[in-house]
Amino acid sequence: MANAADFGGISYGEPTHWDTYYTECRQKISKNHKFDWYCKLDKAMNGMWAFLETIPEEKRFNQRILILGCGSAEFSEDLYKLGYKNQTNIDISSICINQMQERYRGYEGMEHIVMDIRRMNSLSTNYYDLILDKGTLDCLFSSFNFYNDVPLALSEIFRVMRPGGMFMCMSHGGKEGRHGYFTGTSSATNYPPLKWTVDATILSTGLPDIMLYVCKKCSDREWTSIEKAKPPPQVSASEATSNMKDMPGMTRKKEDAGRIILRRIRDPSFPTLKDEIDELMREREKEVNRQRERNLL
Ligand SMILES: C[S@@+](CC[C@H](N)C(=O)[O-])C[C@H]1O[C@@H](n2cnc3c(N)ncnc32)[C@H](O)[C@@H]1O
Repeated sequence: MANAADFGGISYGEPTHWDTYYTECRQKISKNHKFDWYCKLDKAMNGMWAFLETIPEEKRFNQRILILGCGSAEFSEDLYKLGYKNQTNIDISSICINQMQERYRGYEGMEHIVMDIRRMNSLSTNYYDLILDKGTLDCLFSSFNFYNDVPLALSEIFRVMRPGGMFMCMSHGGKEGRHGYFTGTSSATNYPPLKWTVDATILSTGLPDIMLYVCKKCSDREWTSIEKAKPPPQVSASEATSNMKDMPGMTRKKEDAGRIILRRIRDPSFPTLKDEIDELMREREKEVNRQRERNLL
């Protein structure tokens, strides 16, 4: 298989790049170097933070949390302070994981393991309540084999999550490039569609263009009823993709987006973005028909 290094590129989804990065950080900045990519947890104000705050404090320890590509961020520590202490942190870089194990020695319930998110073989199926990512899936999207690596990682994430559990992913990637992968419907992959609902919103982190993707795993029964309720497709995939910029979610006010995501999380029957788009398409078609009828008269 071709490697990015063969083309003079960087393999952001492989250990080589990150081992070098963390070694340099330790040598040049500090042995206990800390860095949060994109933003700190409290800046993920709508969406992720809003959701974490809704879980009653006494129930937080019971939430089994998996943090993908934890890096040297304080993200897990901030979660821990909020009461989310039942944590598995994984990262592909052993230099990074060694540093984190040292930093968080004595933090009961928090574990750090060297693991590739494309191959989480030692993690149980249907286990985690909450899976969080900030920037790691973006590394795979920036890799040469992204069309294979991203679906592989997503199918692993789906596998280890319990039905009703959630995957929250903070990403620099817009819906045009990401939506087909999250839903498992991209024509670029041969993987079966993932049985989870997908919602997306722009996070008000203070930085431009940080998206939050929320995937909620359905039980087989939920999935069957969602599938049954879906109207037949009205537009081709390529047409829908080219219309992405006009999607209602892209123009929603930021303050509404967090509330919409929360409603969707609590109530699986609350319309997804896809439902809204389908509705919009139906309205458009009706309008075209109305105009046609008028012209005929
Ligand atoms: C952009 S950094 C984000 C770090 C941290 N999540 C944060 O928010 O600051 C990406 C992290 O993902 C890790 N990583 C890259 N590819 C990975 C893979 N295939 N499996 C697991 N971790 C990976 C890197 O070692 C790095 O620590």
